[in-house]
Amino acid sequence: MPKTVNGFSKLTKLEKIDWLVSNFFDNDIKVKQVLMQYWNANPILQDLHDDFIENTISNFYVPFGIAPNFLINGKDYAIPMAIEESSVVAAASLVAKFWSTRGGFKAKVISTKKVGQVHFMFQNNKGELQTYFNQKKEELLKATETITQNMKNRGGGILDIELRDKTSELANYYQLHVTFETVDSMGANFINSCLEAIAHEFEKEGIQIVMSILSNYVPECLVYAEVSCKVEELYAENAELFAQKFVQAVQIANAEPHRAVTHNKGIMNGIDAVVIATGNDFRAIEAGAHAYASKSGTYKSLTNASIENGVFKFWIEIPLALGTIGGLTSLHPLSKLSLKLLGNPSAKELMEIIAVAGLAQNFAALRALTTTGIQKGHMKMHLTNIIKQLGASEEEKQFLINYFENKTITHNAVVEAYKKLIGDN
Ligand code: MEV
Repeated sequence: MPKTVNGFSKLTKLEKIDWLVSNFFDNDIKVKQVLMQYWNANPILQDLHDDFIENTISNFYVPFGIAPNFLINGKDYAIPMAIEESSVVAAASLVAKFWSTRGGFKAKVISTKKVGQVHFMFQNNKGELQTYFNQKKEELLKATETITQNMKNRGGGILDIELRDKTSELANYYQLHVTFETVDSMGANFINSCLEAIAHEFEKEGIQIVMSILSNYVPECLVYAEVSCKVEELYAENAELFAQKFVQAVQIANAEPHRAVTHNKGIMNGIDAVVIATGNDFRAIEAGAHAYASKSGTYKSLTNASIENGVFKFWIEIPLALGTIGGLTSLHPLSKLSLKLLGNPSAKELMEIIAVAGLAQNFAALRALTTTGIQKGHMKMHLTNIIKQLGASEEEKQFLINYFENKTITHNAVVEAYKKLIGDN
């Protein structure tokens, strides 16, 4: 029997679930229970979530945690993080505390330019196209006036429109490369609406518009963050060696793409968690960050580190196209709460906070990797997950946590210890 359906989106939530259960789960009633146990008891809240996407049948929880003690540009923050990976919030909290006693993090937005493009094909004379563009440029801007009015009032709008000749990359291919300032909104809808209006105005016989869309590559929407201290203030045991190995770890990530990808993944652990908690688009942030890491032609680290005149410095430079108004930021109650917790920051301030979260996460990873190894901390966090899976009581849990304090944690070892504890051999 084919498991296809027409008009699925028109079914009620319960009908959708019934269809799934009968077609994919052999009518197992437990499946329905699992899905429904995540429905929110508050129907208004559930309706809100239902409407975020199409075909919602349940909610998928991700833990929402707080990493306190971040000192950034002299201001204290407790940073909200939405993430399932067990060690991320713990690592951020530890590192925040560590640097708060060493001057804290310094962060600075370098630029906030966003990009959109109208891609089109033109087969005739290039000079003719350039003349047409020059004549048309003012009208292109005028065509967006109704869309840009509000943004202009907030200090943003279209910065420029350029005609770019891409025919050396692809025959007949040109683009209108448009730059934007979107102030406190991420601006995706604004940018795309402007681009479509521009494309419509620009189109004429001989110009074949292929598509109009923002670019998630935003190397000029850039933020910088750093920490620094005297080498001897770094680490209780052998600070010199620690600093040296730390810098070497960054150099390795800069020299070797396999390592760079994992290194940057660790940075994105911190970044995505705050991006999600504040209702921003983590796919856009991921795409832009990794493209930026490849800007030299080789995939490299997004962070750097140095030791100069006895001072250890560690910094990040990363493009972050974020918003603190509009989109999910004002719709999702937890995003709103996250932004409030951060003092309702401007998009620029949020860029600084999130860059710091990435830098802190990378510091935690490299500190662990170059000293104890990553597994000690990871497995410690994982231990509670394993204990939970085993269905241990609170008392048994405490026993197992103490038991594994100085022992190597593996899934098998925990299962064996648990069996022994409950006398099941
Ligand atoms: C794990 O999620 C992230 C790390 O692998 C990052 C790194 O290796 O730098 C620990």
